[in-house]
Amino acid sequence: MKGIILAGGSGSRLYPLTQVASKQLQPVYDKPMVYYPLTVLIASGIRDFCLISTPQDLPRFQHLLGNGSQWGISVEYRAQTKPEGIAQAFLIAAPFIGPDPVTLILGDNIFFGGDALPRAFAEFKSGATIFAYHVNDPERYGVVEFDAEGHAVSLEEKPAHPRSNYAVPGVYIYDNEVVGIARSLQPSTRGELEITDVNKEYLRRGALRVQRLSRGTAWLDAGTSSSLHEASAYVQTIEKRQGMKLGCPEEAALRRGFLSLDDFEKLVTGLPQCEYRDYLSDVAAEVKRVGLKSA
Ligand code: TTP
Repeated sequence: MKGIILAGGSGSRLYPLTQVASKQLQPVYDKPMVYYPLTVLIASGIRDFCLISTPQDLPRFQHLLGNGSQWGISVEYRAQTKPEGIAQAFLIAAPFIGPDPVTLILGDNIFFGGDALPRAFAEFKSGATIFAYHVNDPERYGVVEFDAEGHAVSLEEKPAHPRSNYAVPGVYIYDNEVVGIARSLQPSTRGELEITDVNKEYLRRGALRVQRLSRGTAWLDAGTSSSLHEASAYVQTIEKRQGMKLGCPEEAALRRGFLSLDDFEKLVTGLPQCEYRDYLSDVAAEVKRVGLKSA
């Protein structure tokens, strides 16, 4: 399974912060935002990534993540010259996807808790798997409606009158059909290739699985100043309480077996003296003591 991290867009709601760095490079407490979705996918077993961003922002991402080999993964980069829709990612990344299934995660979507995502990746066989999350303000998102048996019956993008409170979070899993489906899309009235239209096509084919995320899972999108602040506060609260970091790609790569303990320790030695390095040293010591089993 290939992984796309979509980290372009205009980030206009975060102006003037986005004059300094793109939205997905803004700090969420103690790490750049993109670490969180990247870590979710590493923890789910994804190893081959394509990061898509604007031509101006790509060099910053390349500086931050490199080719991924330091974490036992591979990251390549592609530009989206204009924000012409989330589904355009499948056209931009088609050569990277090749014949494989693919997951797309939005670079400003933050997930914590529960094992629904890793499980969905492990169980995925064909068609599409998307998720549904109960929110207060579904009109801001793609909205999914369920029938009495819990089957998805409709999908609507940012409806004025949502038929349910279930929003579709920004992580999607597709078989290789997605490339052909994306190629056949027409831009919506707002001029975008809509991910909701991709999902509707899978629904029409009877190949869409919509999995509800339980209340134990946190899904935050950090696209406005207050949601960015809330995401930071949330991460700080959990990290302080548990003494475990969220969104730490090095740790996920170690626990997933993408990095040996030896390579992990070498990586840590190369980091500047900081709290992040101290944390990773503690992780190495713990793994030596009790093995890779994650707490
Ligand atoms: P949005 O938050 O809908 O848009 P935005 O990032 O441009 O922000 P704003 O509305 O404040 O101007 O996008 C959701 C995510 O998808 C975000 O991570 C950016 C990404 N995105 C792209 O990379 N390319 C696109 O064409 C679109 C529409 C979104």
